[in-house]
Amino acid sequence: MRIVSVVGTRPQLIKAAALQPALRVRHTEVFVDTGQHYDEAMAGAFFGELSLPRPDRSLGVGGGSHAEQLAAMLTELEPILTAERPDAVLVYGDTNSTLAGALAAAKLGIPVAHVEAGLRSFDRRMPEEINRVVTDHLSHWLFAPTPTAVANLAHEGITDGVTLVGDLMQDLAARVGAEVRDPAVLAEVGRALRIGLRPGGYCFATIHRADNREPAALRAWVALLDAVASPGRPVVLALHPGTRVALEREGVSVGPGVRVVEPLGYRSSLALQLHAAAVLTDSGGVQREAAWLGTPCLVLRPTTEWVEAVESSGGRMVVVGLDRERAVAELGRLAPVDRAADMASERAATLDLRPAGAAEAIASALESGA
Ligand code: UD1
Ligand code: UDP
Repeated sequence: MRIVSVVGTRPQLIKAAALQPALRVRHTEVFVDTGQHYDEAMAGAFFGELSLPRPDRSLGVGGGSHAEQLAAMLTELEPILTAERPDAVLVYGDTNSTLAGALAAAKLGIPVAHVEAGLRSFDRRMPEEINRVVTDHLSHWLFAPTPTAVANLAHEGITDGVTLVGDLMQDLAARVGAEVRDPAVLAEVGRALRIGLRPGGYCFATIHRADNREPAALRAWVALLDAVASPGRPVVLALHPGTRVALEREGVSVGPGVRVVEPLGYRSSLALQLHAAAVLTDSGGVQREAAWLGTPCLVLRPTTEWVEAVESSGGRMVVVGLDRERAVAELGRLAPVDRAADMASERAATLDLRPAGAAEAIASALESGA
């Protein structure tokens, strides 16, 4: 099949890196990057690191409001899809680039394939929830990562075209996780960041949800990270540029125990997660990676779409929202300071993460047209 795939954000570049090798064995891909993310550290660097091919078309339409982004993406995508006449348009996840790709294709009568279909937070205040719901209802192929996602689709009356394929990001995490098990990799990342990093001797954090950029929420998670950090156990916060803008706008800064670093490469992100005492995040991707790596994880949102990640964590993943006291208590339980180093070393030494096989399943389902 001839497939136009549409990406635009950091996690979509990572998902494309996981799918492309299998996809390109069986199909012809036209690779389109909307440019929703545009900083070198959020986008450009991943092409080199993950050996992604240069996009066939780069739309350069990052920034602006949601309406501005969507309008610009739709305007750019329509002539490309009209000229390419693909058999399918493939989109990943739940960003504005996902919705734009799906909508542009559906309006032209081109079948849509949605990777990570069926996820729901049941919170329509989240821009991602709107993007997911609309994309799923426009899709012909719905590649669900989890049984819960399949059930969510069924509740909305969508059963045709749904395939449970597993989690594409696990395919990549399995490969790269094995490459970053050696604590020497952590030390190397630490040297590059100019922070002394020992297994279990720090916590790793990322924050970028729109809700968590609101003034009250900003102050709440900054206080939470400050409460969790200590001189002997810093929090390394890989700061999304949108969150940095929000902190500056509000004049809020983190305390000395929180070491703010630029967005990291994928290997560094995985290395920091694997060897951390714990991960604190509102990211969907980081949350699942922490679960696969076995690292204790506090989810800094009131809800999660990744129900299975929490259920299968054996209590190591806890949805704490922005409740500071709960976060401190859960960390004391999950990663006690006197045992965290041994726990992290043991975890890295015994890591045995297997690929989910999602890339193969998606490429072959597209081939059979089912
Ligand atoms: C987007 C997705 C979110 C996803 C996240 C992954 C939507 C609605 N949201 O959120 O689902 O989890 O990507 O990281 O699509 N910015 C830069 N440089 C960049 C990118 C962003 O400075 O390279 C700043 C800009 O101020 C921009 C802001 O971040 O306005 C928000 O960026 P945007 O792409 O709209 O949303 P994200 O918060 O990145
Ligand atoms: N990630 C990264 N560098 C960072 C933070 C995250 O490479 O500084 C990776 C992370 O390992 C995961 C993906 O980015 O693979 C998650 O993307 P993000 O948190 O931006 O979006 P979400 O998953 O919430 O949509």
